[in-house]
Amino acid sequence: MTAFAHLFQPLTIRGCTLKNRIMSTGHDTTLPVDGTVNAALVAYQEARARGGVGLIVLQVSGVHETARYTNHVLMATSDAAIAGYRSVAEAVHRFGTVLFGQLFHPGREIAEADGGLLSVAYAPSSVPNERFRVMPRPMKPAMIGAIVQGYGDSARRMQTAGMDGVEIVASHGYLPAQFLNPRVNLRDDAYGGDIEGRLRFVREVIADIRAKTADGFVVGLRISGSEIDDAGLTEDETLDAVTRLDDSIDYVHITLGTSASQGGAIHIAPPMSLKTAYVVPYAARIKRNSRIPVFVTGRINQPQDADAVIAAQHADVCGMTRALICDPEMPNKAERGAAEDIRACIACNQACIGHFHKGYAISCIQNPVSGRELRFGKLAAPSRRRKVMVVGGGPAGMKAAVIAAQRGHDATLFEAERRLGGQAILAQMLPGRAEFGGLITNLQRELHLAGVRIHRSTRVDRAVIAAEAPEVVLIATGAKPYRPAFPQEGGLQVLDAWQVLRGEGTIGQSVVVIDWRADWIGIGIAEHLARTGRSVRLAVSGIAAGETLPLYVRDDAAGTLHKLGVKVLPYMRLYGSDSDSVYLQHITSGEAVVIDKVDTLVLCTGHTPVDELSDALEGMDLEVHIIGDAASPRTAEEAIYDGLSVAAEI
Ligand SMILES: Cc1cc2nc3c(=O)[nH]c(=O)nc-3n(C[C@H](O)[C@H](O)[C@H](O)COP(=O)(O)O)c2cc1C
Ligand code: SF4
Repeated sequence: MTAFAHLFQPLTIRGCTLKNRIMSTGHDTTLPVDGTVNAALVAYQEARARGGVGLIVLQVSGVHETARYTNHVLMATSDAAIAGYRSVAEAVHRFGTVLFGQLFHPGREIAEADGGLLSVAYAPSSVPNERFRVMPRPMKPAMIGAIVQGYGDSARRMQTAGMDGVEIVASHGYLPAQFLNPRVNLRDDAYGGDIEGRLRFVREVIADIRAKTADGFVVGLRISGSEIDDAGLTEDETLDAVTRLDDSIDYVHITLGTSASQGGAIHIAPPMSLKTAYVVPYAARIKRNSRIPVFVTGRINQPQDADAVIAAQHADVCGMTRALICDPEMPNKAERGAAEDIRACIACNQACIGHFHKGYAISCIQNPVSGRELRFGKLAAPSRRRKVMVVGGGPAGMKAAVIAAQRGHDATLFEAERRLGGQAILAQMLPGRAEFGGLITNLQRELHLAGVRIHRSTRVDRAVIAAEAPEVVLIATGAKPYRPAFPQEGGLQVLDAWQVLRGEGTIGQSVVVIDWRADWIGIGIAEHLARTGRSVRLAVSGIAAGETLPLYVRDDAAGTLHKLGVKVLPYMRLYGSDSDSVYLQHITSGEAVVIDKVDTLVLCTGHTPVDELSDALEGMDLEVHIIGDAASPRTAEEAIYDGLSVAAEI
């Protein structure tokens, strides 16, 4: 019997049985390249089905030509889409997983231009979108009619393809939510006005889908329990809408946030600074007031949390999307009582929604196989078992050792320090980033399961290598802080970020943080120092603090820094310092910016590789690879990817 009895109870909805209560929610993978399902997307979803998930909701499919919100969105607007949907349905049904489609129209939420040109966006009314700065055209009734038909036609195609149901995307401020929202829908015709007028669009959509699909085809509605935005749908408005609709839909799927504002969008894929399962009270309220099954999604990343949600009857199904991106095998592991083997998602947003926002195929920093199943899904055994020595127990080295051992090599990991983890040990000390340490815990478990031998507190040099006599050496010795040369007079205290995190030096009350990378470190150090009452100026090389970060992490951090009174200075480079002044230069104007009365200057100026070992090995008869920051200082994502991609080939 499974440890998670509630999570692994089947659930039947309109004759369709989910084998368990775990769902991979609709998430745009950016894998499709021409608006249709391709082999990469099939392989991606097949991996999740093989891992035991009960329900997969396929990523959004546009229902009308005006629904193209990005350049890579799937489209369900022609019968040509049916073959692709069928290939996903067949792939996941083989594992007993149910497949729904997501029917989507973004209304005014048009994020990307087509070929560099802004498209004309349509919405119920001409109310601008704050985040994408779109001023939409109001839809004429004939267009509304055509879009309604598009929902029904798309659902028919999905049913023809063998899919089990559809989910209408009324969440996150997309078109159905725009009709529902009295601050966005200012129409005075039959589609506006009171709640029944604003519900008319959704009601017509549901009716059209029902008319064009056979009985037994599930129709659900995804909606934000609250859009958590001043102009967004409130909790009460959502509750009102759901209770009015629940006799016409088969389930409601509660999530949070809106695409319409930077603040509301943080909740679409909440970063680790937000509490796990914080969406559940919203779903529980709907559940108490509604007659249909309630699904809930948002930061539920562990089976024990999901099981508790189901046990408490706060919801009937838990969306665990990033949890499944990070570990597609999570449901199988939970069911067979191996929860400690689960690679838990840490909500860093880096390679999943972070890639999506940059227009790249999604992946996972901890599991770079995700989104790359065609390349790494099945790793070939080596032609010959070789002795592989991995030097450096940070993320790159740990992953490389795991993969080498899993493929059958004789792998040993050497770490100079007592603890494994490398820079991740420091990264988890930044405010709101404690969960980042989960990456180390997960990799340690992978090392254990793969049977890698580990030598800690062992510094490796040529003599150690000679004594070990490996055939392959992977150098993963990481990086150390980079200190740029700059004129310094008068002895102002200068520390680097690592020293601050380790508690070295006595930091004064007035601090300037130089942030070259515009990533987590500068904003984290600024927050850390501001929380202890210091006056902090964050001089960032980019256009904004956290410019290089996943958007929701950046926007969440911007709010925190603002509340703490951190002064952010964009476009700044370090020029020099004297006893109590820091001299900056505006990068584009070239003008000087002087900050006086400074006690401490903190450098977040990146890293430089530690790779002396590669020189020391010159002349030895060895296959040597340099991976991770030792090759070039980047992020944990590239480090782990290097570990996988190099160890997959040796
Ligand atoms: C890469 C990515 C793409 C997403 N695209 C969609 C989408 O197409 N439709 C949708 O309704 N939600 C989308 N979402 C939101 C997810 O469905 C889900 O609500 C979110 O990941 C939070 O759940 P989690 O904490 O279980 O990951 C996306 C999320 C991610 C990470
Ligand atoms: S990249 Fe981060 S947030 Fe995304 S699935 Fe992986 S661990 Fe989770």
